[in-house]
Amino acid sequence: MCGIVGYIGKEQAAPILIEGLSRLEYRGYDSAGVAVFDAESGSLAVHKAKGRLQVLSEQLHGGADLDSTVGVGHTRWATHGAPSDINSHPQMSRSGKIAVVHNGIIENYTELKGFLQSKGVPFVSETDTEVVAQLIEYFYDGDLLQAVGRVLRRIQGAYALGILCADCPDRIVSVRKDSPLILGWGEGCNFIASDVTAILRHTRRVSYMEDGELAVLTREGIRCYNHLMQPIDKDVVTIDWEMDAAEKGGYEHFMFKEIMEQPEALRRCLSPRIRNGEAVFEDFSLSEDYVKTMNRIYIVACGSSYHVGMVGKYHLERLTRIPVEVALGSEFRYMDPIVDEHTLVIVISQSGETLDTMAALREARRLGGHILSIVNVVGSSIARESDQVLYTWAGPEIAVATTKAYTTQLALLSLLALFLAKRLGTVPEGDFQAMLAAFKELPDKMEEVLSRRDDIQYFASQYFHHNSIFFIGRNLDYALGLEGSLKLKEISYIHSEAYASGELKHGTISLIEDGTLVVALSTCDKLFAKAMSNVVEVKARGASVLALTVESRKEEMSHIADAVMTIPDIHDLLLPTLGVIPLQLFAYYVALMRGCDIDKPRNLAKSVTVE
Ligand code: M6R
Repeated sequence: MCGIVGYIGKEQAAPILIEGLSRLEYRGYDSAGVAVFDAESGSLAVHKAKGRLQVLSEQLHGGADLDSTVGVGHTRWATHGAPSDINSHPQMSRSGKIAVVHNGIIENYTELKGFLQSKGVPFVSETDTEVVAQLIEYFYDGDLLQAVGRVLRRIQGAYALGILCADCPDRIVSVRKDSPLILGWGEGCNFIASDVTAILRHTRRVSYMEDGELAVLTREGIRCYNHLMQPIDKDVVTIDWEMDAAEKGGYEHFMFKEIMEQPEALRRCLSPRIRNGEAVFEDFSLSEDYVKTMNRIYIVACGSSYHVGMVGKYHLERLTRIPVEVALGSEFRYMDPIVDEHTLVIVISQSGETLDTMAALREARRLGGHILSIVNVVGSSIARESDQVLYTWAGPEIAVATTKAYTTQLALLSLLALFLAKRLGTVPEGDFQAMLAAFKELPDKMEEVLSRRDDIQYFASQYFHHNSIFFIGRNLDYALGLEGSLKLKEISYIHSEAYASGELKHGTISLIEDGTLVVALSTCDKLFAKAMSNVVEVKARGASVLALTVESRKEEMSHIADAVMTIPDIHDLLLPTLGVIPLQLFAYYVALMRGCDIDKPRNLAKSVTVE
C-alpha cells in the first residue's frame, strides 16, 4: 500500500505535497518522491529518495527548493522491486514527459513490459508502475486523456494513479480501480489524495472516486468521467472532523494517543445507538422478516478486525442461536463458502480498503448474501459496496497497530448481537437490560483502566526482554489473546503466539520451559477455575505467568500467577472490549522499552490494498 497526493493551484506545490505525504506515511514508508512541473525548463522535475519521507524532505528543504504550482507525490510500501531511489515513485516514461504515482498492483505488467521492450522501450526500474508511465507515452499523440484511456483498457489489477504530463502542465489526471483515491475541491486549487488527512489543511470538500472513474484536475475545477469516458457529476461531501484528530496532539506516538482516545470513541460510537432502554440502529435496514429467516451469519475480515469477528461469533451464537462462521478475507474466496440469500455477511474493516476483505465481500455478494459492514473510514470502498454500513465513528486512526478501531468495532458488533437477539426474541428482557446497562458503563470503566496505566508500564519493564511470549485463554479470553498477541508482535517484534488453553497439552506445552513468559487471560467468570488449572500447569513447567483477570478474582489469581493485571468486573459481553486495554498498553510499553518504531513497524502498512 502506498500514499498518493497531488496538487494544482497557485501556491508552491512541493511543500504542500511533502506536508500531505507526511500524513500518508502510515500507508507506506520505505521511500518517497515528488514530480513537479518546472516552468523555467518546461519539463518535469523529479526527486525521489529511499527511506522515510524525512530523507526526501531534507534534500528538498521541505519542498522550498522546487518552484512549481503543480505536482504529484508518493510515499511507498514496496511490492514490485526493493525499496530504492530508482524504484521509488513517481515513475517516468523514457523521455521524462510522463510521471506516474501509483497505489496498487498492475497484475499483467510483465506481459506489457515485454510488449514495450519489443518496441525498443528501455526500462530502468523493477516496478510495475513504470509500465504505466511508459505505456502512456507509447500511446500519447498529444491527447493525454485519450492515451490514459487506451492504457486503462490494457492494464489489469488494482490501481489509483496520479499522472502528470510535461506537455500539459495545467492538469493532473487521476484514475481509480480497487485502490482508494479522493478528489479535493479547493478555491483556485484542487487535489488528489489516498486519504482525506493529506489535504484536510487545504479543503474539507471531497469526492470519492469510484472504480473505473477518471478525473482531470485543473486550477479552475475537476472534470470527472466514467469508464466509458462519459462526463459525470460527482457528489461533494464536507468532512466534519477536525485536523487535530489526525495529529499527535502532544503525545509521543499516535498509538498511545489512540489508546487514550478509546473511551471517547466508544461514547461517540455507542451513545446514539442506546436510547430509552433500547438498542437503536437507525442505519439498520434489514426487515423483521429477513432477520427471522436468517439461517447463517458469516463474519469476514483480516488481522485485528478478524479477531473482532472471533469474539463476535461467541456473542452472536450465544444471543441469537444462529450459526456463525468467521472467515479470513484472504481465505473466504477460496473456501467455497455456503452463502445464500438468507445469509447475513458481516464485513469488518477499519480502513474499508483491505483488498482481501473487499474481494470476500464481492464473492459473498455474488453468492447472494446480504452484506452488512462495520467500517471506520467514511465513504471507503467497503462501505460503499455494502448493502448497509454501521460506522464505528472512532475518528482517524493513524498508528499501524489498531486500537480504537478494534474496541469500537467490537462494541458495535456486540451491540448488534444484542439488537438481533431482541428482534429474534432470543434474549429475556431482564438480560437485555442488564447488557444494555453494561454498554453505558463501558467508557467510564475503560477510563479507570487507562488511569492505572503505570501498573502496566511496570509489568512491561519486568518482561520487555523476553523473546517469546505465549498468550493463553479460553472462549472469549482465547479470542482476546489472539489480539493481545498480534498487538505485541507487530510493534515489539517479539515472537508471540496465542493458544486456546485447552490446546496446550496437545503439543504447545512442550515449548514451555524455565522462564517462558505466559500471559494468562482469565476474565470470564464461568471459566475461571479452568483458567487457574492452566496457570498451574504452565507454572509447573517453569513459566512466569502474567495474568489478566477481573478485580473480584485478583486475590485468588495472585496466589498462583507471578503478576496480575486487572480490569473492573463487567458483563461478559464486554469483557474483551475492556480486557484488550491492558494488552494494548503492555504491547505499547514493551515496544517503547525495546526502542521500536511504534507507529510505523517494519514491513507493515496501515491498510493492505494488495493481495
Ligand atoms: O483496515 P482493516 O481493518 O481491514 O485492516 C485489517 C488488518 O490489516 C489490521 O487489523 C491489521 O491487522 C492491524 N495492523 C492490526 O493492528
